[in-house]
Amino acid sequence: MAETVQDNLTSEVRSQLKQIVDKHSGQKESIIMILNETQEKLGYVPYEAQRYIALETGIPLAEIYGIVTFYSRFSLKPVGKYKISSCLGTACYVKNAQAVLERIEEKVGIKAGETSADGKYSFVATRCIGACGLAPVITINEDVYGRLTPDDIDGIIEKYK
Ligand code: FES
Repeated sequence: MAETVQDNLTSEVRSQLKQIVDKHSGQKESIIMILNETQEKLGYVPYEAQRYIALETGIPLAEIYGIVTFYSRFSLKPVGKYKISSCLGTACYVKNAQAVLERIEEKVGIKAGETSADGKYSFVATRCIGACGLAPVITINEDVYGRLTPDDIDGIIEKYK
């Protein structure tokens, strides 16, 4: 007997996922494209969506979960309108990145790994993002800020309201 999808997805989300899966079915690397589009549409790739995609495509859920957790562009939780990433790689760390990170936490009122209740900010600490010459570095969505001190943070965050 075919397995039925018991999940908490709304019918609207389920229909969006079905369209995405159908659009990419049979294509090489289709799972990456399906997950990319799911992330874009929903803003994250929740467990229920992964399970739905696994059942629809026949790709094992463990494989899908492995992809979602491996690539930083996928998120398991809803992401805020502004995604702030603070690098804690070695080059940034030795240039006081921890103090920069703590100032961001104070300013936006959430800890690294959290999303603000109003959905405005998500904040994560990252490994090296490949801009060590600018250490310490943060990014906000596609914008990059480098050679920071904690005192720069308030003015930068103010731009993202
Ligand atoms: S260590 Fe921060 S950009 Fe490389």
